Amino acid sequence: MTQTLASTMPEPSSHPPSPRRAATTPMTVGSGSASGLVITIDGPAGTGKSSVARLLARRLGLDFLDTGAMYRAASVVVLDAKIDVADQQRVVAAVRGADIRFDWTADPPSILAAGRCVADRIRGHDVTAIVSGVAAIGSLREVLVAQQRAIAAAHPRLVTEGRDQGSVVFPDAKVKIYLDASPLIRAQRRAAQLAEQGVAADVPTLEAEIARRDKLDSTRAVGPLVCPTDAVRLDTSVLNRDQVVDELERIVLSRLVAASTGASSASPPTPPIPSGPER
Ligand code: DC
Repeated sequence: MTQTLASTMPEPSSHPPSPRRAATTPMTVGSGSASGLVITIDGPAGTGKSSVARLLARRLGLDFLDTGAMYRAASVVVLDAKIDVADQQRVVAAVRGADIRFDWTADPPSILAAGRCVADRIRGHDVTAIVSGVAAIGSLREVLVAQQRAIAAAHPRLVTEGRDQGSVVFPDAKVKIYLDASPLIRAQRRAAQLAEQGVAADVPTLEAEIARRDKLDSTRAVGPLVCPTDAVRLDTSVLNRDQVVDELERIVLSRLVAASTGASSASPPTPPIPSGPER
């Protein structure tokens, strides 16, 4: 990495610096402006998005927003209130009332619903079983999208990860990335995770399930999973986690340098591998 980043961006003043700001790499590209720096990372499940987005944020000294955790926290609210997901009005009222937010003084920031930390609940099977139905409710998405934008206003140096961050929530983000991997690779990764938990899983079955969820995610009416036209698409199929983070850092620096020098080509650097087949 030959570029050095020059930090010209203002620190947000309304919040204390989060622990991750003490990251080792100083953020110094002159890409910053008063509007801050938002980096969006979208893509389907199983691409390792969350962990690499978190590591990238740490490396660059930016805050990290896990928007999937917000939809999961909304699902905890729905479960605790025993609301039928089909009763959209009640779902939205309950989630609005729960005021889903993060405690930014914790590292990583903990997710709160109705003032209580639900971080230990959001990965539960009960939540995973209903979250895609909850996330498909348009009026609920409006509530959480507004909250995500408010978070970015308070934390303007942000890596945000989800399905719709570059396409819907932050269309003006300075850097947009779309992570992908073939359904087979994602199924194999999931099977390996399950094996670690002592659960046997059949890869072809998992692959079929992943393909089904991709279709649901990408065809839903509101906030569908799409690769924004101005995003850099990175296929992680043959990369390990560190290689993905290295590549993401390279993409971000390259984009920011291009933006700060007014270079006409804001296109990504040579991709390390070809993208997987389009689904
Ligand atoms: O990334 P995850 O598995 O934690 O996401 C949980 C669910 O929320 C999943 O069904 C996709 C959905 N989601 C979404 O619709 N939009 C986002 N920005 C983030 C997650």
